[in-house]
Amino acid sequence: MTRYRLADPQPAFDRLQARLAARLTERGIDANAPALPDTPEPIPALEAAQRRIPYDYREAFADHPAVATWVRTIAEAATAPNADDHNPHWGSGGRRMIARGPSLLLWGNTGAGKTRQAYGAIRSLTAAGCAVRWHAVKAVDLFGQMRQRSGVDVEWLLRDIVRMPLLLLDDLGAAKSSEWNEEITFRLLAWRGENHLPTLITTNYAPVRTEVMDKHQPVLRDKVGDRILSRLSGMCTPVHFDGPDRRFLRA
Ligand SMILES: Nc1ncnc2c1ncn2[C@@H]1O[C@H](COP(=O)(O)OP(=O)(O)OP(=O)(O)O)[C@@H](O)[C@H]1O
Ligand SMILES: [Mg+2]
Repeated sequence: MTRYRLADPQPAFDRLQARLAARLTERGIDANAPALPDTPEPIPALEAAQRRIPYDYREAFADHPAVATWVRTIAEAATAPNADDHNPHWGSGGRRMIARGPSLLLWGNTGAGKTRQAYGAIRSLTAAGCAVRWHAVKAVDLFGQMRQRSGVDVEWLLRDIVRMPLLLLDDLGAAKSSEWNEEITFRLLAWRGENHLPTLITTNYAPVRTEVMDKHQPVLRDKVGDRILSRLSGMCTPVHFDGPDRRFLRA
C-alpha cells in the first residue's frame, strides 16, 4: 500500500482546491481578498448614555478598586424580566435590569476624581449589558429644579428622581444649607435607602469628624444634619479619595 506523507503532492486536494476557486470565481468572490475587519455591533444603550454624560467624563472608567467591586455587585444582582418560573418554555426575556443593591459615598478633596469614577461606574454597568435607567444631578441643581414654578409639577419631578433605578447625586453638601434643602435631600435618601436603590453620592466632606482632623474643618454631618447622615451610613459604603487635584495637574 502506498503511504502518503503530508509533504507529498496531494492531487485530490489540489483538484478540490481548484474546483472551490472556480466556484468562487463564478460567484464573483475573490478567495485571496483580505478578511473583512470585524466591526463590533454598537450598543445602543451605551451610545445613548454617552450623549447624556458630560464631555469631560465620556471616557471615564471605574478603575478604583472599591468602585469596580460595587459595579460587579450591582451587575451580578441585575436580573432579566421573566427570569423566574412563570414561563419556563420561553426562557428569560429582555435585558438584565438594575435591581436593588448597596450605595457608595465617594468623599474626598476637590479634583481627586470622584465624579469621574461615578460616571465610570454608570458607563461600566451599561457596557456590562445591564438596562440602566439612570439620572445624574448635582445637589445644588436638584434644589434649583425643585423650586415651585408655574406649569411644573415639582412633586412629580422629585418622585421620578427618587425612584430612578440608579442615581448619581453629585457634590452633596456643596449647596448652602437650609431647612428646605435638607428636606429634599432627606426625602430622596430616606426613600432610596429604605428601598435599597443603588445611589452614587459624591461629597468633598468627610462623613464624620475624626481625631486627626482640624476641629474647625466642617464635616458632612455639619452640612446635612444627623438624620441624613444616619441614612447615608445605613445605605452607603464610604470610599475615600485623597489623590491630588487633577485639574491643577492637567493645567
Ligand atoms: N483617572 C483619571 N484619569 C484622567 N483624568 C482624570 C482621572 N480622574 C479624574 N480626572 C480628571 O480630573 C478632573 C477632576 O475630576 P473629577 O471632576 O472627577 O473630580 P472630583 O473629585 O469630582 O472633584 P470635585 O470634588 O471638585 O467635584 C476632571 O477633569 C477629570 O476628567
Ligand atoms: Mg465632582
